[in-house]
Amino acid sequence: MRVLRPVALTLALAATTANAGLVDDIVNAIKNAATCATCQGLFVPLKVLAALGDGPFTKTFVAVCKVISPGMIDRDVCEGAVKTQAPILAHDLRSISPFGQTAEKLCDALVGLCQPPAVNAYKVPFPKPAPANPKTFVSSGKTPFQVVHFSDIHIDRQYTVGAEASCTKPICCRNYADQTGPVTNAARPYGSRNCDTPTFLAQNFLRTIGSNNKFSIFTGDVIEASVWLADRVTVQHDIEEFNRELTTIPQVPVYPALGNHESAPTNAFPRNTTTKKGASSQWVFDTVSKGWEPVIGKAAADQAARLSGSYSAIVPGTNLKILSINTVYWYKSNFWLYDSNKAFPDPNGIIGFAAQELQAAEDAGQRVWIIAHMPTNRKDALRDQTNYFDQVVQRYKHVIAGQFFGHSHQDQFAVGYSDYSRQSADTATSMAWVVPAITPRSSNPRFKVYDVDPDTYEIMDSKVYHSDVNDPSFDHEPKWELVYSARELYGPLVPGHPATASLNPAFWHRVTEAFERNQTAFELYQSLRLEGGKPMECDATCKKDTICQLRALRSESACDYSTPGLNFRREEGQNLTIHEAHTDECEGIGLSHVLKGVAEHRAEIDWDQLQAELEAIVADAEANPEPVED
Ligand SMILES: *[C@@H]1O[C@H](CO)[C@@H](O)[C@H](O)[C@H]1NC(C)=O
Ligand SMILES: *[C@@H]1O[C@H](CO)[C@@H](O)[C@H](O)[C@H]1NC(C)=O
Ligand SMILES: *[C@@H]1O[C@H](CO)[C@@H](O)[C@H](O)[C@H]1NC(C)=O
Repeated sequence: MRVLRPVALTLALAATTANAGLVDDIVNAIKNAATCATCQGLFVPLKVLAALGDGPFTKTFVAVCKVISPGMIDRDVCEGAVKTQAPILAHDLRSISPFGQTAEKLCDALVGLCQPPAVNAYKVPFPKPAPANPKTFVSSGKTPFQVVHFSDIHIDRQYTVGAEASCTKPICCRNYADQTGPVTNAARPYGSRNCDTPTFLAQNFLRTIGSNNKFSIFTGDVIEASVWLADRVTVQHDIEEFNRELTTIPQVPVYPALGNHESAPTNAFPRNTTTKKGASSQWVFDTVSKGWEPVIGKAAADQAARLSGSYSAIVPGTNLKILSINTVYWYKSNFWLYDSNKAFPDPNGIIGFAAQELQAAEDAGQRVWIIAHMPTNRKDALRDQTNYFDQVVQRYKHVIAGQFFGHSHQDQFAVGYSDYSRQSADTATSMAWVVPAITPRSSNPRFKVYDVDPDTYEIMDSKVYHSDVNDPSFDHEPKWELVYSARELYGPLVPGHPATASLNPAFWHRVTEAFERNQTAFELYQSLRLEGGKPMECDATCKKDTICQLRALRSESACDYSTPGLNFRREEGQNLTIHEAHTDECEGIGLSHVLKGVAEHRAEIDWDQLQAELEAIVADAEANPEPVED
């Protein structure tokens, strides 16, 4: 003790000295955070600030909101988002070195200034080596059965018919307190652009999942995108409400997966290794476990409670196992993932669980569908974990008949390869189906119906259905109509693909080759991604990257790059919402948007005002120190 005492004193003195220049350092660092190196430099003063407690740290970012509002973002939206997320960031910064790899990843997640580091090599352990002669599944040509796949329903329980649908917030069609003046664009009964799904539309859709379908899969995101208001009480209530609808309205079972919006704060799922007292998303897992039990059964519901919402269930009367996994521990915008210098290859054991369940399926001669929220070929998916999961997919490629995702709100697909350095129809081994959203926020509400071979459980055809928001009938009784059949639309691009063969990975690889040669076909695909929404512009570089992304089931191979600076304000005179402008940003508005906004609008910010506010916050924190509980 006698030895330690002087050290502690010195540290306290050093802290006081640092705080004297702290505000200058923060302001300068924010001003100059334009490169990856300076972004990590920003963490040095922010770490000192975080040591003063969550309170002053959060107040600092609220002050940043003040200087960037209202030009870039509504003040309530900014403050609400910051207040929920800043304490997590403060905890992270207290827990890590500002110069380590975790900080580098955090910079990428927060400001998009660092490209993510190369994958940290890790060999996933498997229960058993791959068999020399894996069981093959052969179609006997039986009539396919139908499965509905839907996602991102984002039900807004506060949706108000007649409220303003052209507002300045991430979602509209609510009675916001600061909404003044006459309504210019009234929220429609079954949904409007810029808004999440009204209950009417959600229930109308759930009634369409009829008895013609054997079962259905739902790949997550129940909660609406008002993330600046998301609190535990509302989120839990809304999950419970949806689970009741999910288990009572459709005439067939719906197997669900957990999305990144199913928490409060949004995206925030602490790892079970966190040192922060009381930090846990167990309430989410308990809520879904209870709500899903009538469909998935007791054993699977117990798994969901124990395994962070992940479970497996055999579809009755089939040889098909549904493996539903929570991908939010691989999601860049889950800021709890940055609270240790130590790398955890498999946070909360999701990858290990998948391997174990796939092994059991291999042993039992079953096939597996992997269902999850976030596709693994995006820049918002962490490179390490998607690489490790890809190892699992490659090991069990004979067992997996398909992977099914949502999250992007776009009609997409992706192919995985046994050898990424030799991508071809021969090395194409896994197929991912990405379904667009039910929410009409930025495109027409859509879902897919798969024709499934009853022997192989592979997809013979995928049909997209939509409800056209611009059709007058949408205001009375939304009609769900066929948009296209993948086999009809893309089949002619792959001449020679047998009619009896499934739409397998080789088929889709050949479709991407057709996109390379045939601009019309590529543009057709692009136009369907956000059907009914804003057209996507794509030059030659974008086309190259888009095709690259279609040929990847791991983030490192997807050519989906981090880009700094985002303008997240709704532009005057354009019909762009925050979400249309960032259709690829699924996390909702948050700290990262605030920091990116600062980076982009540096010249317009009143730095003297910010400096004065921060001086007051730091002085107050020093006069009234608060306890820090990590
Ligand atoms: C976290 O969860 C995984 C998977 O269930 C488990 O193996 C591990 O022991 C847990 N760690 C802690 C610290 O609870
Ligand atoms: C190019 O793609 C379009 C749209 O799928 C198709 O109609 C056309 O036949 C294709 N052209 C060739 C040469 O394959
Ligand atoms: C915005 O929407 C209105 C009404 O739907 C339309 O008349 C106008 O052309 C649109 N503006 C732009 C820039 O797309």
